[in-house]
Amino acid sequence: MQNKIRLIFIFLLLTSILTGCVFSGAPESDTPAPVTEQAEDIQPESVSDQVTEKPSAADMKRVGVAMPTSSSERWLDDGANMKAKLEVLGYEVDLQYAEDDIETQIEQINNMIENDADCLVIASIDSEALIDVLDKAKGEGIPVIAYDRLLMETDAISYYASFDNEAIGILIGRYVEEKKDLKKASRDGDSYSIEFFMGSPDDNNALYLYNGMMEVLQPYLEGGTLVCRSGLTSFEDTCILRWSQETAQERCSAYLDEYYTEDQLDIACSAFDGFAYGIKTALLSHDYEPDRKWPLITGQDAERLAVKNIMNGSQTMTIYKDTRVLSSKCVTMVQAVLEGAIPEINDTHKYSNGKMYVPSFLCTSITVDVDNYEKILIDGGYYTKVQLMK
Ligand code: BGC
Repeated sequence: MQNKIRLIFIFLLLTSILTGCVFSGAPESDTPAPVTEQAEDIQPESVSDQVTEKPSAADMKRVGVAMPTSSSERWLDDGANMKAKLEVLGYEVDLQYAEDDIETQIEQINNMIENDADCLVIASIDSEALIDVLDKAKGEGIPVIAYDRLLMETDAISYYASFDNEAIGILIGRYVEEKKDLKKASRDGDSYSIEFFMGSPDDNNALYLYNGMMEVLQPYLEGGTLVCRSGLTSFEDTCILRWSQETAQERCSAYLDEYYTEDQLDIACSAFDGFAYGIKTALLSHDYEPDRKWPLITGQDAERLAVKNIMNGSQTMTIYKDTRVLSSKCVTMVQAVLEGAIPEINDTHKYSNGKMYVPSFLCTSITVDVDNYEKILIDGGYYTKVQLMK
């Protein structure tokens, strides 16, 4: 019986070879294979295996990468990661930084379109300022991916790669809650003073972060465990245009002069490492010292300087957002729109931009402070010990 089956199999195999049809073992499907973790661990060797024949310069697909500013470490890392990963896959990359100038960014994107970009990756300065240029890209059939910051009020967008910004706000709120043991303070009738330094009003991420943070802290403000002497607690009152470090410093100085001459500031709730640097400068010029009266200062991005400040006690915590993971996820989206595959997404209903719910991949972030920075950042390969000593 077994011999008979074997004979039938050999017969079928021979027939298929002769007719040019080979058994694949899996049914053919029109659905493209998902591009999942492929870019996550891009190793130059394995990718170069895939890209056996390098396309000629004329055939190379072009990806325009528009970044908001090169003035902060995180965007430099994002840009460098994107460029390197896309180039390894054989794409030509036009990476531009707009130095927080909206017109410059519009011009850069226009140039990318005119230079026949096949795909655009955009981290915007002002989420709503690009509507027209994005329409133009759509008209030319160029897919657009929003990087870190959502592009608002447009349907000319295929995917969104970011971090869960509301979750980041919750992490910051919980850190303050735990470190100051607000539950106990509330039971004991104790209170702490707090001031807020929130992100740019034209960056969609900023409000998400604020909302997440207030989800945790609002009850303590209402119950009097947290006291904001300036009285400025709303997003509108505490947001800082273009995430300006200088504005954060000026505001902190003004609060200290006006509301903290008798009592000290206990908590500076900041949404960005850059703000934390400004707050530090303001505090140092107001008789605060890291080992005396120093408030709890929060941040975001785990910039090298912020981690060094955490090590020397002049910043309390930051939020680590692994830009290597973010760029890898974004690269899978680029591959998807250019090669017709399906990228990995993990959210379809959290981020509406006013026109559509944008299919997103939201990466996870981690709280980092003096107790875990070595394990998370050094053991995790984000920084070397030497980089944090220099
Ligand atoms: C990003 C943050 C960054 C901020 C300022 C936000 O859009 O999500 O990581 O700190 O911009 O650059």
